[in-house]
Amino acid sequence: MKRYFVTGGAGFIGSAFIESLLSHEPNCSITNFDALTYAGNLENVARFDKSRHSFVHGNIIDKEAVLAHLPQECDAIINFAAESHVDRSIRSAHEFLVTNVIGTQVLLDVARARNVRRVVHISTDEVMGSLPETESSFFTEESELSPNSPYAASKAAAEHLARAAHHTFGLDVVITRCGNNYGPRQFPEKFLPLAITNAIHNESIPVYGDGLNVRDWIYVEDHCRAILAVLENGRSGAVYNIGARNTRRNIEVVESVLNQLQRPKSLIKYVSDRPGHDRRYAIDPSMVENELGWRPLESWESGLTKTINWYKDNPQWVEQVRSGAYRDYYKQQYGTGVEAL
Ligand code: NAD
Ligand code: DAU
Repeated sequence: MKRYFVTGGAGFIGSAFIESLLSHEPNCSITNFDALTYAGNLENVARFDKSRHSFVHGNIIDKEAVLAHLPQECDAIINFAAESHVDRSIRSAHEFLVTNVIGTQVLLDVARARNVRRVVHISTDEVMGSLPETESSFFTEESELSPNSPYAASKAAAEHLARAAHHTFGLDVVITRCGNNYGPRQFPEKFLPLAITNAIHNESIPVYGDGLNVRDWIYVEDHCRAILAVLENGRSGAVYNIGARNTRRNIEVVESVLNQLQRPKSLIKYVSDRPGHDRRYAIDPSMVENELGWRPLESWESGLTKTINWYKDNPQWVEQVRSGAYRDYYKQQYGTGVEAL
């Protein structure tokens, strides 16, 4: 039986990954180690079979706690734990450095000390900075690291540490860099779930700047299948860019949401731009496609329909995460309450 240690598994992608892993490997056991920050949510893991998934409330910067809960003869650590929102990193970078940088180093040290067979470190395309607006340029595994936000800089630092652990100590590390995920259970500080939940409630949708920034969208289950492929067959020491060849301008994203929910365009509200806002992300996924045979299964439209339906069908989840601290964050970020943008 394989034993996995997943960090950040109460968040959006981590919990989706655990679901994929449990169905892919019926015989495995998973320890899900998560600090339950504002983005972590036990509701996200309530559906998992307790005989194969155990949740541990712990912080990856706490080496003793990680050592205490890491399974004996661990097959892999898959590291999703992170501070993940760019706007929050612009307000304050401290927690991003603590979790994303120091926390990653703790996991690498523990993996080495306890002979963990493989570490899959989940990074992001944002470490490669911003592409020019022309449609012919893409991020590849050879692209320079050129992070522009404190979040991206912390993720780039983590990648360097992961790479260094492989180079210096021979640790089996594989890094993945994915674009913008969408799907069920994404915290609505992020653009797409923010647009969906505000549109459902007939509230305005804040669009930064001119709305023409481009992101490369991937349905979360497709991302998780790519991580499984990397976990099983990725080359030790390699980096894999993961994308579904699905770039969209932000304004197109909002229009798709409004169309599907039959809401008027008058809900779109242009607001001040994000400082240092990256203009365009676009991923060339040829390497993960050619080496590992991975392909996305969802189209943008089919993934969006599934996502919107999930938010419509789960009002309790939405209300719980939109209460309390989220309202304070929203006021700080947008200068007004969620109802009155
Ligand atoms: P998320 O914010 O939804 O979840 C992060 C999880 O990590 C939460 O459950 C949180 O409680 C946990 N966590 C935070 N600090 C921790 C700590 N110190 N110790 C233990 N747990 C901690 O994030 P997400 O969107 O699911 O992203 C997961 C990973 O994927 C991150 O590393 C992120 O950088 C990367 N990524 C995200 C996207 C995206 O579009 N969301 C794209 C590419 C890469
Ligand atoms: O590309 C991968 C990255 O995608 C991940 O590493 C990050 O963890 C994830 O948060 C995401 O970063 P982005 O900054 O691209 O995502 P966000 O959802 O914050 O914003 C998407 C786009 O929408 C971006 O161009 C900014 C814009 N935006 C965002 C918000 C929150 C708006 O126009 N209005 C908003 O209110």
